[in-house]
Formats: sequence, C-alpha cells, structure tokens
Amino acid sequence: MAKTASLKIDDKPFDLPIMTGSEGEQAIDVRRLRAESGYICFDQGYGNTGSCESNITYLDGDNGILRHRGYPIEQLAQHSDFVETAYLVIYGELPTEKQRNHFGTLLRKNAAIETQMQRIFEGFPDDAPPMAMLSSIVASLAAHYPELATNNFERDLQNFDLAAAMAISKIRTIGAMLYRYQNGMPYVHPKDIPFCENFLHMMFSEPYKDYVAEPEIAKALNLLLLLHADHEQNCSTSTVRMVGSSAANLFTSLSAGISALSGPLHGGANTAVMNMLQMIHDEGDDGTRFIEAAKSGSKSSRLMGFGHAVYRNFDPRAKIIGDACEKVLAKLGIDDPLLEIARNLEQAALKDDYFLSRKLYPNVDFYSGIIMRALGIPVNMFTVVFAIGRAPGWIANWREVASQPKGRIYRPRQIYSGPVKRDYTPMGDRG
Ligand code: SDX
Repeated sequence: MAKTASLKIDDKPFDLPIMTGSEGEQAIDVRRLRAESGYICFDQGYGNTGSCESNITYLDGDNGILRHRGYPIEQLAQHSDFVETAYLVIYGELPTEKQRNHFGTLLRKNAAIETQMQRIFEGFPDDAPPMAMLSSIVASLAAHYPELATNNFERDLQNFDLAAAMAISKIRTIGAMLYRYQNGMPYVHPKDIPFCENFLHMMFSEPYKDYVAEPEIAKALNLLLLLHADHEQNCSTSTVRMVGSSAANLFTSLSAGISALSGPLHGGANTAVMNMLQMIHDEGDDGTRFIEAAKSGSKSSRLMGFGHAVYRNFDPRAKIIGDACEKVLAKLGIDDPLLEIARNLEQAALKDDYFLSRKLYPNVDFYSGIIMRALGIPVNMFTVVFAIGRAPGWIANWREVASQPKGRIYRPRQIYSGPVKRDYTPMGDRG
C-alpha cells in the first residue's frame, strides 16, 4: 500500500501521495492539491519545497554530506580532477579513458573565442563588474552558434555534447579574457594544454613569456573548480532550470545562472569574505571585534562565508578547502595574514552560542578566496572562478529539464495580498 499524507481542510479529508527518494528523503506530492481542494502550498523561497526529481547531486545538510552521482565529494576531491568530475556530473558515470580523452579533445578544440565575439568586450567600460560581462558574453554564444541554440529541446539535445563542452571551455576562456580586458592587457590565445593550466596561461602569460603553472597551483585550481561543480537546487542552478524549462537553449539558460550567482548572498560571497577579512586586517582587529558585530544579526555585518540555506553542519567543501589552504600556502611559501584572521573567526564562531544555536558553520566561500588570492587571482574575479566551476552542474540540470518527456514550464503560484477590486478614478478625482 503506497504511503500517503492525510490532510483535513474544512473537515474534508485529502490523501496525498508520499514520494521517497533513493536516499530515503520523503516529500508530500501536492501536485493534485489545488485541483482537488482549491488550496496551494505557501513556502517563501522554496526552502521546504522540492521543485524537481534529480539524479545529479545529493545533499544531507544535517550530516554535512555531498555526493555527485553517488560519489562522496571527499573521494572526488582526493582522486578525481575538475574535467573528470564535470563529465561525471553531466553524464552520470565516471568516464572511461576513451570517453575522458574525447571530452578533453572537445574542450580543447572549443577553447577559443572568435574575433567577432571578442568585439563584445569593447562594449563594456573596463571597470564593469566581471559577472555582468560574463553573463552578457555567455548569452551571446546563442547568437554565434545558433545551430546549437535552436530553442527546440529535441534539436538542442541532439547537439548537446558539443554545446556542453563548448560552454564549459568558453566560459573559462571568457573568464580569462575578462581579466585581460579589465587590466588593459592583450588577450592570450588558448594552447593545447590541460584545462586549468590553460586558464592560468590565458590569465597570466606575457606577450613574450608564457605563464607555466606550477603543479601545486594547477592542482589547487583543479580542486577549487571540482568543489564548485554542482550543489543541488541552489539559487543559480534553480534559475538555470527555471529558464531552461521554457525551452530556452543551454547558453541562454547558463547566462541566467551566472546572473543569479553574482549576488553576494550566493556566489558573490567569496568576494565578500575577502573584503571582510581585508577590512578586519586593515582595522588592526584579529577578528574578535568583528565577531561581536556579526552577532548583531544585521545583514550588513554578517560573518560572510558562514551559514548556509541547507547545511546545518559543516559544509564538507569548506573542510576540504580549509585543509588545502594550509598546504597550498605552505608549498608556495606564502604567509597570508588573512588566513590567520579567518582561522580566528572560525575558532571564535564555533565556540559562540550565537552561531552554534543558529547552526552557522563555514561554507564553501569561507576559505576559497584565500587560495584564489594565493594563485594570483584578483578578488573581483573570484565569482567568475566560481561560475567556471559551477558550469557542469548548471549544464547537467539544464539537460535533465530538456530531457524530461513530460517536462512542464516552471510556473509557481502566489498568495495575492494587494488591493482588492476597485474602480478607475479620473485624474481630477485623485485628491
Ligand atoms: C553559497 O545554496 C547553495 O548550495 C549555495 C552554495 C552553492 O554551492 O551553490 O553553497 C554557495 O551561496 C554559500 C552561501 C554563501 N553566502 C554567504 O556566505 C553569505 C552569508 N551567509 C548568510 O547570508 C546566510 O547564512 C545564507 C544566505 C547563506 C543562508 O541564509 P538562511 O539559511 O536563509 O538564514 P537566514 O538568513 O534566515 O538567517 C537565520 C539566522 C538569522 O538570525 P535570527 O533572525 O534568527 O536572529 O541566522 C543569522 C540571521 O541573522 N545569520 C547570520 C549569518 N547567516 C545567517 N548571522 C551572522 N552571520 C551570518 N553569515
């Protein structure tokens, strides 16, 4: 007998089916509720609402568990790399050597940005927000490759492999080009080298001297991108699904996801963390004073990089990045005072009832900026790096929406609380 939830409204009973996921998560299926009762559910911000069934990523916020297609993030961080994890997130299985080589070839063959697209950069002030530029230029991929962006699910899925590889590779290249444009430096053409090394080459090479990334630096960037690859139905991923559900093509949907990620409460938090740490340092505070201010609860003095809409425990990615911080900075011989301040803040917060009672722990953004700074990546590029890492997750989610045989356009309802019916009044009668 299928499990149901019984609801009684005005003494009338309603039995609603219970859905159970592969990890035992349970949900009340309310798809019939409005038709049968006239009532909708209300859940501002969808914090308690499942918008879809997905096979990509599993999060257990209470126990700090994150798995991609069943593989624990700790194992992927230890044994995999960004390109292999991107393949896993998108296609559902770890690639064979042949599949990995083919995917890598697609990424390398589609790394360059054509001259006509390069002209888009010139339309922006050189101090434009990088994420605003990234979102616009990624959207233009639909104009430059219309055969991959027909806004017809069937046709776009037929060309999905090329579009997906192109998106991952070009978002990385556009990211590097943003840095060059904003610093008045000529663009650097991609080379036939691994993904992360190519990004760093395109960011930092000089006209007559190629930048060759030290293995530790390429490894650290690989880890950072891998840890950002996907994260269930976060704000930007849900945005990609929402836009994709209208049959908008992959590039257009990714552009919307980039815009959602740019907010400081989401992908912009890594930048906000670094600005917070720098401010604490410049004020000669070791973090003690700031922690007290953060407990005021005001949105303006939040402990950025702490708290999470899902994790009520440590964000497993924060642990991995926090450990990597020490190793990367030691290997590079960097003594960053901001790391010391971050450690002070973490230790103070993890002993303070204000944070413990609200289950506020470090999230993925708390330490990631310190590693990126050690790699020479400027603060205003941190969220761009986050977008490069999250591209596979967005792509995998768009593919799930596009592949659904009975997919419906996302169209949430609302509770209207505005003025009730009233008649139009001529200007002269408006007082
Ligand atoms: C990412 O969804 C994802 O998976 C996102 C992400 C991904 O990989 O895609 O993991 C990436 O976005 C990580 C989160 C990055 N954002 C930040 O680090 C910004 C700082 N964090 C907060 O703004 C906040 O914690 C959120 C937005 C992340 C989560 O907010 P919630 O769960 O909606 O919590 P809330 O705003 O309802 O706050 C609950 C209480 C409030 O206090 P009271 O009203 O109960 O007194 O906790 C307090 C808040 O004031 N609070 C904080 C705090 N975060 C919440 N107080 C101080 N510092 C903070 N960081």
